[in-house]
Amino acid sequence: MCGIVGYIGKRNCSPLLLDGLSRLEYRGYDSAGLAVCDGTERLWCEKTKGRVASLRERCFAVPESTCGIAHTRWATHGEPNERNAHPHGDCSGSIRVVHNGIIENYRTLKEKLVAQGHTFTSDTDTEVLAHLVEQCYSGDFPAAVKEALHLISGAYGIAVIHARHPDTLIASRVGSPLVVGIGEDEHVVASDVTAIVPITRDVVYLEDGEIAVISGSSLTISDRDNECKTKDHHHIEWSLESAERQGYDHFMLKEIMEQPEAITNSTRGRIFAEEGTAKLGGLDSVQDRLRTIERLVIVGMGTARNAGLVGEYMLEAHAEFPVEVEFASEFGYRKSPLSDRTALLAISQSGETMDTCIALREARRKGLLTLGLVNVTGSSIARETDAGVYNHIGPEIAVASTKAFISQVTILALMTTYLGRMRTMSRATGASILNALGELPDLAKKILTQTDPIKKLAKDFARYEHFFYLGRGYNFPVALEGALKLKEIAYVHAEGYNGGEMKHGPIALIDSSVPTIILAPYDSAYEKNLSHIQELKVRGGTVIAIATEGNEEIATLADEVLFIPKTLEMLTPILSVIPLQLFAYYVALERGCDVDKPRNLAKSVTVE
Ligand code: M6R
Repeated sequence: MCGIVGYIGKRNCSPLLLDGLSRLEYRGYDSAGLAVCDGTERLWCEKTKGRVASLRERCFAVPESTCGIAHTRWATHGEPNERNAHPHGDCSGSIRVVHNGIIENYRTLKEKLVAQGHTFTSDTDTEVLAHLVEQCYSGDFPAAVKEALHLISGAYGIAVIHARHPDTLIASRVGSPLVVGIGEDEHVVASDVTAIVPITRDVVYLEDGEIAVISGSSLTISDRDNECKTKDHHHIEWSLESAERQGYDHFMLKEIMEQPEAITNSTRGRIFAEEGTAKLGGLDSVQDRLRTIERLVIVGMGTARNAGLVGEYMLEAHAEFPVEVEFASEFGYRKSPLSDRTALLAISQSGETMDTCIALREARRKGLLTLGLVNVTGSSIARETDAGVYNHIGPEIAVASTKAFISQVTILALMTTYLGRMRTMSRATGASILNALGELPDLAKKILTQTDPIKKLAKDFARYEHFFYLGRGYNFPVALEGALKLKEIAYVHAEGYNGGEMKHGPIALIDSSVPTIILAPYDSAYEKNLSHIQELKVRGGTVIAIATEGNEEIATLADEVLFIPKTLEMLTPILSVIPLQLFAYYVALERGCDVDKPRNLAKSVTVE
């Protein structure tokens, strides 16, 4: 949801800012802009509708400067056009602001500012902040920004520069992520570390309400009460290459292909098969409370929630306490009974999804034990939970989440043994799950080396406008995930259902124009799935089955079959989702879609 980058140091900043923006483009890509201090009374600024590439073309005459800010936008207030692109300025043109989030009281503020004589040039909420800083300014730039921030409510990650203070960059956050990278005599602020790593690997994460004032080469961070804070420095470990396409046409394909490695990385050092349990160091500090929990609520959105649904089946079957999966966005609207024996697990790749952050804060307020399953280290959810587990799969850049799902399900399987072994799970059961997990990378690789049948299927079915995805048990969430992938990147209407529900209404839609993809591996729902295939076929439907290798029977019933290797029933989602990800990817290519940057979307949704 919008990418922010700002630089102050000794180097010419515009190439660094543009490079940073390209790395953040997955966060939003409907317009982009850049502003730098060029030694004059007005800041130099260029903006464009569209992608960072267009901005780069327009920036051929950008002056040399060592201080600047840039932005790539996912529109909330004001349509995506040049006028509404950031950075936004004040009346004099000497202040520029980039912002991620929503200023909720902007209408009231705007009315007051207009009455005070300010002229607005955009339809955004952000522009009020530039005018507020101008209104509060009487020579002390940091004081003006602080005063302005006290007047706004809502969520923000911001960076601000002032033409009269070319050696100062100010950044602050409430609810939207912001990281400060600390190099040698240079600083970079950004919405996420991918834009920082090319410059420095040492970072500090700003907390809500903190404000970073970088003057020359000195960084001061203070809180809402103006108290100076001493912050922990973090070192970013992952390699720069992991945030690059490395010869793949798209990040999505690269990330699909990385999935065997993602399983390995998620389980590395965590499998203790002999003891039949997983070692999850991040949960050790809350081990005693975990022994006594009587209910687990899992929250997440989109793919993260789908992974949580697989976890629900796993944990209920093996760890023996009730598990409920809730859309994070609905958690606060329910009056569900919660006790100090209830734990909440927030699943999020980015760790910044606003709906999930809010559910987490609500749970904390109610005294629940809060756990996180997060990929991005140092992200809001990672910092705000009592304990948690990291995915350790490197950055996921494509908007469509793939390797994060596989990793989340893998870790939920580890958590199942961890929590199950605290209760009645036998060592043998724990060991069998962990041994099967250890085999998964090779099995996933096998699917990924046989993509031709999936490509062909995608070609044959690329022009259909409606699909059903069916699954039961552990594979019901996979049906939801497969449908989500197709909608999201190929813009094809797809509905995920459990097979049992079909005949209660949705089957009315089946005819030869609506194919169904059914997840039918050998498992406890296999016979039921065969019945569902028959029910679809007699109604003129076309059926594509995802089945276990060696199953010859299913080919006589379904129109098309894609095979996956055999594994434990509870782990099949980790394999069965792969053909569905690839199918969506190849259909999107056939339809000429922009796979990595689907329309209307952004990678991390940091507004409610
Ligand atoms: O970063 P998160 O895992 O919290 O993101 C949650 C969803 O926004 C995300 O999974 C979304 O549904 C994906 N684009 C789906 O591919």
